[in-house]
Formats: sequence, C-alpha cells, structure tokens
Amino acid sequence: MKKTGYIALLTISVIFYSGVKSYAQVNPYQYNIQKTAEGKNGAVSSAHPLASLVGVEILKKGGNAFDAAIATQLALAVVYPGAGNIGGGGFLVAYTQKGKIISIDYREKAPAASSRNMYLDQQGNPLMELSQNGHLASGVPGTVAGLFTSHKYGILPFAELIQPAIELADKGFVITPAEARSLNGSKSSFIKYNTVSPVFVKSIEWKAGDTLIQKDLANTLKRIRDNGAKGFYEGETAMLIVEEMKRGKGNISLEDLKNYQAVERPAISFDYKGFKIIGMPMPSSGGLLMQQMMKMIENKNINQLGFHTPASVQLMIEVERRAYADRAEFMGDADFVKVPVKTLSSEKYLKKRMDDFLPGKATPSDIIKPGDVDPESEETTHLSVADALGNVVSVTTTLNGGYGSKTVVAGAGFLLNNEMDDFSVKPGVPNMFGAVGKEANAIAPGKRMLSSMTPTLVLKNKKPFLVVGTPGGTTIPTSVFQTLVNILEFNQTPLEAVNNPKFHHQWLPDQVAIENDFPKSLQDALGRMGYSFQKRNQIGRTEVIKINWSGKKINGIEAVADKRGDDHAAAY
Ligand code: GLY
Repeated sequence: MKKTGYIALLTISVIFYSGVKSYAQVNPYQYNIQKTAEGKNGAVSSAHPLASLVGVEILKKGGNAFDAAIATQLALAVVYPGAGNIGGGGFLVAYTQKGKIISIDYREKAPAASSRNMYLDQQGNPLMELSQNGHLASGVPGTVAGLFTSHKYGILPFAELIQPAIELADKGFVITPAEARSLNGSKSSFIKYNTVSPVFVKSIEWKAGDTLIQKDLANTLKRIRDNGAKGFYEGETAMLIVEEMKRGKGNISLEDLKNYQAVERPAISFDYKGFKIIGMPMPSSGGLLMQQMMKMIENKNINQLGFHTPASVQLMIEVERRAYADRAEFMGDADFVKVPVKTLSSEKYLKKRMDDFLPGKATPSDIIKPGDVDPESEETTHLSVADALGNVVSVTTTLNGGYGSKTVVAGAGFLLNNEMDDFSVKPGVPNMFGAVGKEANAIAPGKRMLSSMTPTLVLKNKKPFLVVGTPGGTTIPTSVFQTLVNILEFNQTPLEAVNNPKFHHQWLPDQVAIENDFPKSLQDALGRMGYSFQKRNQIGRTEVIKINWSGKKINGIEAVADKRGDDHAAAY
C-alpha cells in the first residue's frame, strides 16, 4: 500500500459531539494521502482523504455503496469546497447487487427567469463575466435532491450519512497545502463576488495545517438532516439563497427551488468486446461520447498499435475530434430538444464517421463537420465506491469552475455553482472550457445545461468490474476514454491507467491538449502528422475501483486515486 504526501501539522485529538453517532475514527486533524488501497469489503476513492475515510466508515457501519457515496459527497462539500458541493449538481450511475442499472440526473436547471440571450449585450456580444462569475451565473442547485433520490437505494438513515459532514463543518478540519494555495489564489474573487465576506477570506494567507471551520454550513447541513430535502429547497435555506440572489442580482427564486426535482433516467449502455459499459445519458454528453469513441476504435486493433505510439494516439485524437463535433451540434437537454442518440450511436453512422480518417495525417477540424444526421478552470469532482455486496456507484458532481460562481450564500455557508456557463450563451462562442454549442444547448427556463460528466461502470461477465470517473470539464470524456482503453486494450493496472500522461482533442479549438509529462518524442511524431499542441499542467483527477471476482464471490477490491491532487483511496 503506497502512502504519499501530506501529514497535517496539527495532531489535536478530537471528540465529536453529536446527537447521532460519533465518527471519531476519522481524525480531521491528522490524516495522510494514500493513492492505492485494497480490501475485500469495500472501497472509496475520492478527491480528499477525509471524504474517502468517511465513506469507508459508513461501509464499516453496515451502509452500502449508495450510503457511502452520499456520505462521501456530503463530506466533500465541506472539506473540498472548490468542487464538492450542495450548491451545484451531479450525476450518479450505479449497478446494484441485484443487477439493476441506475442513473440519477441531479444537474442544475436554468431558473424560470432565464432567457436565451441573457448573457448578450444590446449589440449581441457575449458577456461571459456574467455567465461565469457571481450570482447570475448560478443554475438551480440539484445536489441535495440527488442525494435524497439516491438514498432510496441505501440502508442507513440519512441522518447518519450527513453527520460526519456536519461535524467536519462544525468542528473544522486541517487543510492541505493544495487547499491553502487554492483558497489564497481565489481570495480576490471571493471578495469581488460576495456581498458578505465568506469564511474563505482571511486577513492573512491560509497555510497548510490551518483549521477551516464552517459554522453556517454546519447549520445548513443540520437543517437538511432535520427536514430532508425541504431543509434546502424550502424554509430558511431557500430564503437565504433568494436573499443572496436579491443582493447580487441573481435570479433563482423560491419557486425555482421548490420545483427542483432530480430524475432517474435510463442509462446509456453498450457492449465493447465482451464488456458492458454503462454511462450517463443526456443532459450529460459523457455517456454518448464514450459510446461513440469506444465504438469508433473497436475494430481498429488498437492494442496491436501499442500504448502511446504515434499511431494509437492519432487514432484516439481523430475519434475524439469527430465525437466532439457531434457534441457541439446535436447534444443538449433531451427534455427540451430532440437529440438523435440512436443515430449518433449506430454502428453504420460511426463507421461512416471514420471514412475520412487518414492514418498518419491530421484531419483539420474545419473539414470535420458534425455528422450527417436526420432532423446534439475544470473543478468538478468524482468518487467511485464499491461494497462487499456487489453494489457499485460512480458519481461525478460539480460547481463547474473552481469554487463555482465564487458566491457564498450568506448565512448558509455554501458556494453556488456557475453552471449557466455550460449552456451555449451564443452559437459558436466558446464557454470557459473552449467548448462551442448551438441550438440544442441554448438557454431556456427550466432546461438543464449540457454536461461532460462521465461517471462510468464496466461490467465483465455481468458483474461489476470497473468504477471510473474524473473531473476536468470537456476533458472528462476523453480522460475516461483513455483510462478504459489503457485497461481494456493495453492491459495496464488501474494505477498505470490513471497516472499515465493524458491528451485531449475536442474538435474546436483544433489542437491537442497534452499534459506536461506527455512524451516529447510522441509529440514530435504527431507534430509531423500536422497536429498542434497546447500544454496543460494536468488533465483530470481520475478515481478507479477494480473489483476482482472468484466465481460469485468478491476476491478483492482495488481502489486507486489519481496522483494529480489530494485524491485518496481507502478500503477495508
Ligand atoms: N461543469 C462541467 C460539466 O458539467 O461538464
């Protein structure tokens, strides 16, 4: 078991007080970052050690993977405020011990007062500042509704699942060096986009080992514990959100909050060389993009081409380019627009899509148009969970950008999302991820903005095999794609698959994003084929769980957390 990184500086022992149960096993003042873990009874991999440890504690107390996923998300809302949230939204894909596939959509919605051109000035110029920062950037949050919708598959009372988060908020936890840097880096934004100074702003710099206490957030979590989803969507919390909106010219109303509902939808599911891959349907593009990309490589013998050879990487780049061109044209909230999912995922269509693929030569994006179809800062977070019963849960959740809109609901202590920027504010105008969109993803009241989140499951012999996902905006589907190809085609371990350098192409801009450690010789070879590059410090933070079976019994559960952040794997 590999342990790396950080040990919190303070070692105060802690006694939690609560009316429910104590979670003193998780010491918020002293913890390590651990990148791999193995057990037979359950595992959680998430963006923060305390959240993964809370998840495993819930499993130890008899909760199942759904319970652990709920508790982990709530803990992330406290210990990882940049992306963990109750003021954002997410998607959950699960496979139960009884063989049932579940997908829950708790994506944010455009408030009723939204309108198609709300982020354009009188001359029709985009006002991206408004879609990306502050009160008007927020969609109606979906996370709390999603947690309660997924709780019907859990075992333990919700009050027990939220208690660790309440305690972490109430008593505080020590922050990591990365969190200290991140809070310091966002200080001026927190000052600019808040009407009341939030707890994240201090007169002096944050440093590793400081304790972050969030009393207002603890009180909001207690209202949710005591009143259920109404503790967020109605009553005091809802009033605080609406008052915040009024102070900052946002437009989420009491009605918007009261009307919000999470939705269970039929998942995307397809076969790939004997494996079944399960993902999220619209309004996330993730599942369909995954299906398109996997199916476009399925008959190309990619394993013969070899891992990170110019030929295999070029094939994957061209597949990504074609799938993302379709994303820009056709994909959006299928409750509002007709998304031609059947055609876009058909074998005939995908085969034709690769007709103009030329091995050894880049296909410029201006000649790749969307397919011929009859009238579709990167701070999200992912958690993968597995239990001893054979339930697996894959959740990706987000505020959109780091710390979302940067606006904290005064008196309620949580950040609101800036998810409205995931709509296409104007055809062809790139959003914060450089993604373009058209009519299918135009703003409309009550509509969900198109997402890239790709919580994914892979089944082998009808049993759960892999639980995968990552943050990273539009790079999410391509990171999951590479992780699956690395494991299923190149026989890599989950650790290798996660940590190997990533690349990304999204049609427009016509360039390949590569991580700093992407091999130079490979970049040079691709450059000679006509590709240009944009370097990135990192792409994604992928969390993988692999389940090993011996007949009908689980033989071992391996959890891997990405090397790229504070991500932590826990198991028992
Ligand atoms: N906000 C990132 C996504 O949903 O794709």
